[in-house]
Amino acid sequence: MIEARCRVAVLASGTGSNFKAIVEASRREGFPAEVACLVTDNPEAGALAIAGTCGVSAYTVPVTSTKGRLPPEAEDEMTRICVGHRVDLIALAGFMRILKGPLLDVFENRIMNIHPALLPSFPGLHSARQAVDYGVKVSGCTVHFVDRSIDGGPIILQSTVPVEDDDDEDTLISKIHVKEHETYVRAIELFARGRLKIDGRRVRIL
Ligand code: GRF
Repeated sequence: MIEARCRVAVLASGTGSNFKAIVEASRREGFPAEVACLVTDNPEAGALAIAGTCGVSAYTVPVTSTKGRLPPEAEDEMTRICVGHRVDLIALAGFMRILKGPLLDVFENRIMNIHPALLPSFPGLHSARQAVDYGVKVSGCTVHFVDRSIDGGPIILQSTVPVEDDDDEDTLISKIHVKEHETYVRAIELFARGRLKIDGRRVRIL
């Protein structure tokens, strides 16, 4: 019997390197998840070209307002797309919009985000710059479930990188990106295998 794989929608606004890493992982023998679709708010997103090259269905839901909250009608449309693709999990990968509505309700505890810092330190934008300016010696990335807070949902996995004296925002973000790709893939794999259990603020790995 062939077991159904976990169907993942990736929401991305930018370059799409995490999206690419997830697609590549999903094509490995035995990986328990597949990418059902890419959804973006940005017609210029690099992720769209990656979806084209990789043969992943892609949808653009253009949003005219500047960065910030996703307008309700756009969130409705993204929800319809994900439901239509029978999605089990949504992976936010550089998605620069705040969710407030139906996506959170319909996919409760089934939306993940990746953040380029060790939360709860340095939430929000420009995390690598914040980390360098603060003078921390270690930074990294966090994969967490998404709730109604900003970067505040239960933490699934974290990976660290050292911050060297000569690091700046750009060099630090490059190092973090390498860790992000493997960490996000691992978190999706754990979810797809049913190994993540949310217990209050803690996520137990079964
Ligand atoms: C990543 O650093 C991620 O942590 C943040 O946005 C960036 C997206 O990068 N949320 P990419 O588009 O996946 O290359």
